[in-house]
Amino acid sequence: MSDRRTQTSRRAMLTGALGMAIIGGLMAAPRRAAAQVAADLDRVDALIARMTIEEKAGQLNVLADPFRFRPQNVNPLDGQGDPARMTQMIRDGQVGCLFNGVGADAGRRIQTIAVEETRLGIPLLFAADIIHGLKTVFPVPLAEAAAFDPDLAMRTARAAAVEGAASGIHQTYAPMVDVARDQRWGRVVEGAGEDIWLNEVLAVARVKGFQGDKGLADRDALLATPKHFAAYSAALGGMDYNTTDMSDATLRGTFLPPFKAAFDAGALSVMTAFNDINGVPASGNPYLLTQILREEWGFAGYVVTDYTADQELIAHGFAADGRDATRIALMAGVDASIVSGLFLEHIPSLVASGEVPMARVDQAVRRVLMTKAALGLFDDPYRGCDPERERVLVGSQAHRDLSREAAVKSIVLLKNDGDLLPLKPAGQKIALIGPFADDKDVFGPWTIWGDESRRISLADGFRGAMDDAGALTVVQGSDVEGPLSGGIDAAVRAAADADVVVLALGESSRMSGEAQSRTEIDIPAPQRALVEAVQATGKPVVVLLRNGRALDLTGPVGDAPAIAVTWFLGGEMGHAVADVVFGKISPSGRLPVSFPMRGGQQPFSYDHKATGRPADPTLATQEYTARYRDIANVARYPFGHGLTYGKVTYGAVALSGAELAWDGSVEVSVAVSNAGDRDVEETVQLYIHDRVASLTQPVRRLRNIQKLRVGAGETATARFTLDRSQLLFMGGDSRLTVEPGQFHVWASSSAQTGEPAVLTLVRG
Ligand code: BGC
Repeated sequence: MSDRRTQTSRRAMLTGALGMAIIGGLMAAPRRAAAQVAADLDRVDALIARMTIEEKAGQLNVLADPFRFRPQNVNPLDGQGDPARMTQMIRDGQVGCLFNGVGADAGRRIQTIAVEETRLGIPLLFAADIIHGLKTVFPVPLAEAAAFDPDLAMRTARAAAVEGAASGIHQTYAPMVDVARDQRWGRVVEGAGEDIWLNEVLAVARVKGFQGDKGLADRDALLATPKHFAAYSAALGGMDYNTTDMSDATLRGTFLPPFKAAFDAGALSVMTAFNDINGVPASGNPYLLTQILREEWGFAGYVVTDYTADQELIAHGFAADGRDATRIALMAGVDASIVSGLFLEHIPSLVASGEVPMARVDQAVRRVLMTKAALGLFDDPYRGCDPERERVLVGSQAHRDLSREAAVKSIVLLKNDGDLLPLKPAGQKIALIGPFADDKDVFGPWTIWGDESRRISLADGFRGAMDDAGALTVVQGSDVEGPLSGGIDAAVRAAADADVVVLALGESSRMSGEAQSRTEIDIPAPQRALVEAVQATGKPVVVLLRNGRALDLTGPVGDAPAIAVTWFLGGEMGHAVADVVFGKISPSGRLPVSFPMRGGQQPFSYDHKATGRPADPTLATQEYTARYRDIANVARYPFGHGLTYGKVTYGAVALSGAELAWDGSVEVSVAVSNAGDRDVEETVQLYIHDRVASLTQPVRRLRNIQKLRVGAGETATARFTLDRSQLLFMGGDSRLTVEPGQFHVWASSSAQTGEPAVLTLVRG
């Protein structure tokens, strides 16, 4: 088996495509002239010719920054580095990149060691996990996906990049583009949810936002690193780090498209995944890292492992020891290793013994150095190391305003019986109750440098929005996962004394994110007890959910007349929630993940297959069909669902023709009426279903969206152009294909609504 791996890699090296691939790929990054890339290649190759094997190994070694203060450690080995030892390692050319240290001033000091005190003066690359903001914290990526708004995602990524780049960072380990179909998996919170198309579109938006449109050498650009390559989110049982196993059509049709879209948008690095897939760990997988990534896609950037993922080949039982792991990872196509130090330790002897050809090491070094060149580091190693610029740009008012805008647009109104929302800002007493009523846990699980002084709680937001802050009573009632002594009694008293109750419930940031998979995706029992007690007072109840995944709302929470999903909305959370709760802004968010009837349906996504015995969702007692004994296999709140303060209804879907010619197009339209007294923004969704195909197809697939403003009392029409390219699917031969025949087409408000029109694709 190891022979096969070696052969694949050698073949990749011998295709001779390397130089052209680098030029082609770097050209994809905006405004990079071929002559400039060719000049960089000459410069880099001249440097490689002068490097010792130890210096080459050093360039492929990525270590955590031990110099700069971090408020918290985000990984097991963090904070263990010794600055004096690291200084010496940099001087000795043993480090190519430092990550998760931020700050312009210290960045200049550290870069000076690399540039002035090493033999070759090669600048360091500074990387960081800038996931959804630096000092200004935007909504978690899953929340922002609920806005169904690529332009917004691009703008928040841009703002994050401006702050990161002004703090001396060159590369972000983002976006996460793992399609997430099992809500038990904790890292759903970091991505764009369950849908392939939405993941693709938002991957592109985020890459463009991070990298900007002026080229990677621009001082405001951050190199984007789509992760985790690949199929990390398909972990069996939703348990983080677990094995994945799937057909090639599923891998290529479901999990790879957002990566491909990100690379086509110009992303020039990629991070491997921790999991094994079909028996081969992703970080030692030549099929993924060489065949698909390089040979098929022509990716020209560099591949970095996830945190110690090369070393973990040993625990996977795929490598005998660190030396073996280094050889396997490198020969599979990994270019740089994070934290383990294995590449630094073992590459020299692996090359000396001939187990790893020098050409492969040179190739990896070339990719890393070409990235540094693309970032302009050879011309200006101190880019971004200007403390004055950092002071002005980081945490600016403009970024805070954007954070509030994004937060408002991310809120999803699931239910609003009797038009309980919006609440009036005056004239009624409000009891705000729950563990998230007045807390600061608004950033979510994946921020390191957020401005802790800027965390607006719900209570603060409510007080700011109400005419009389004295009409608000705030009671905690319960801890997140445990009861609070006297909490329920205090909550019941406050509820009894109020006209309306707002319950702030859900998950803490510690309950989602890396290594935070859950077996039950429900609201913890002590909070459910709180809801029951409060509901017994008979007061109208609004539930505001805080969550990093879709939740099972079985029981009293689901019975509340009004429910809104408010995720982790970032620093401006309280203001944004108040904007919606008090009706300053009508909610417009849509679910990027289906809220299931029960947690036991996981993995669940709206685009499942029909099966040979499809269940009729209206026949709850139907036997011998694809359903559970206790529930129909539908969502409680489906993907795409979200209410507004308008009264919106959809007309029938209309097609401009019943036939779609092979090279033609049809217009799909739907009239949307708003009988309410508020203007709204509808996210109209275009779905298709391929009725008969050579591989069974999902019951629905999202192909496009349109944001439609519908004034009060008005009707507006959403129009989509549909052509053959939107009907493609990944065939059994692992190629995109489309077959003539019948399709169902919907333009609807969610993945569980609408009556389809029938369209026939005709081969011309
Ligand atoms: C995570 C990555 C992250 C890396 C570096 C790992 O534990 O899986 O997403 O980029 O740490 O912090």
